[in-house]
Amino acid sequence: MDPCNLKDPSLSSSTFLSLLLLVPSPPCQPLSHVGTFTIRLLQTTTFQNTSFADTDGLGLLEDIKLGYFDKHTSSIHFCQPWVRPALPQADWDTIENLIKIFMHQFNRVINAVAMQMDIPYPFVVQCMAGCVLYPNRTSQGFVYAGYNGQDLFSLNTKNVTWTLSQDTKFSRYVKSLLQNDTAFTETLEIMFNQTCVDEMKMLLQFGRAALERQELPVASVFARTPRPDQLLLVCHVTNFYPHPISVAWLRDGQEPWP
Ligand SMILES: *[C@@H]1O[C@H](CO)[C@@H](O)[C@H](O)[C@H]1NC(C)=O
Ligand SMILES: *[C@@H]1O[C@H](CO)[C@@H](O)[C@H](O)[C@H]1NC(C)=O
Ligand SMILES: *[C@@H]1O[C@H](CO)[C@@H](O)[C@H](O)[C@H]1NC(C)=O
Ligand SMILES: *[C@@H]1O[C@H](CO)[C@@H](O)[C@H](O)[C@H]1NC(C)=O
Ligand SMILES: *[C@@H]1O[C@H](CO)[C@@H](O)[C@H](O)[C@H]1NC(C)=O
Repeated sequence: MDPCNLKDPSLSSSTFLSLLLLVPSPPCQPLSHVGTFTIRLLQTTTFQNTSFADTDGLGLLEDIKLGYFDKHTSSIHFCQPWVRPALPQADWDTIENLIKIFMHQFNRVINAVAMQMDIPYPFVVQCMAGCVLYPNRTSQGFVYAGYNGQDLFSLNTKNVTWTLSQDTKFSRYVKSLLQNDTAFTETLEIMFNQTCVDEMKMLLQFGRAALERQELPVASVFARTPRPDQLLLVCHVTNFYPHPISVAWLRDGQEPWP
């Protein structure tokens, strides 16, 4: 399956309203570059056993899928035509190499920790890293990690220290490992506090049309008769962007109804 086209139910632009008649929302505020923008890199690695780990990696700008790491070809697959031209090819080559080195080291270190701490297989490690650009032009990098669906720790970019989300023997051990590896921690800080922000500014220029796009809602109304004395009207609204929407029923042009 192509991760570019995977539907995230939380992001799907579709909403239901059960009543009569639909009024499309007034045109939404266009997104502009004075807004807040976030780049997120998501990594999910399933460690099946000491010799087999499966990783999925995805990059997002707001809710737009930029690309994913194709594990079969060990290269970045771009989801949007404007993503590759946004950065010089040398930058993409560097990013691709960093991902490869990181994934190799990550699997090696996590397997070593699992052995040291007697962590049972299989288990899942998730990382989310990226940066936020605020309207006041300040920015902030972030790095979070989770284990089996629970938050584990995060990198505090203000003082470059790791903060535990849960205090277990395992999380304390990994924190101490990361805290001792100052070179790695500083690399993360530079990548997400600086490089990520610089690259986001380029992506915002190239992705402007995608971020500012406006797609009008399409509404369909269905009638149901759950009981002979009841008429249920269901309004299904799809295809709109951006996601905030207001939908209301009118009766003889009067709102709200009932
Ligand atoms: C590890 O898991 C993979 C995938 O499930 C499996 O093919 C392989 O045989 C396993 N290896 C060992 C040593 O258990
Ligand atoms: C910029 O905006 C962010 C988010 O609103 C805020 O947290 C931060 O303190 C602001 N920074 C400055 C220097 O105003
Ligand atoms: C990262 O951002 C924080 C807060 O904006 C700042 O204090 C810190 O100096 C930055 N670090 C680097 C390496 O740019
Ligand atoms: C780093 O900052 C966080 C929150 O800002 C704080 O909780 C933590 O104690 C600080 N760590 C160090 C070592 O100063
Ligand atoms: C980190 O460094 C401290 C002090 O040198 C040491 O006691 C600790 O064992 C190290 N942690 C790990 C996980 O290697």
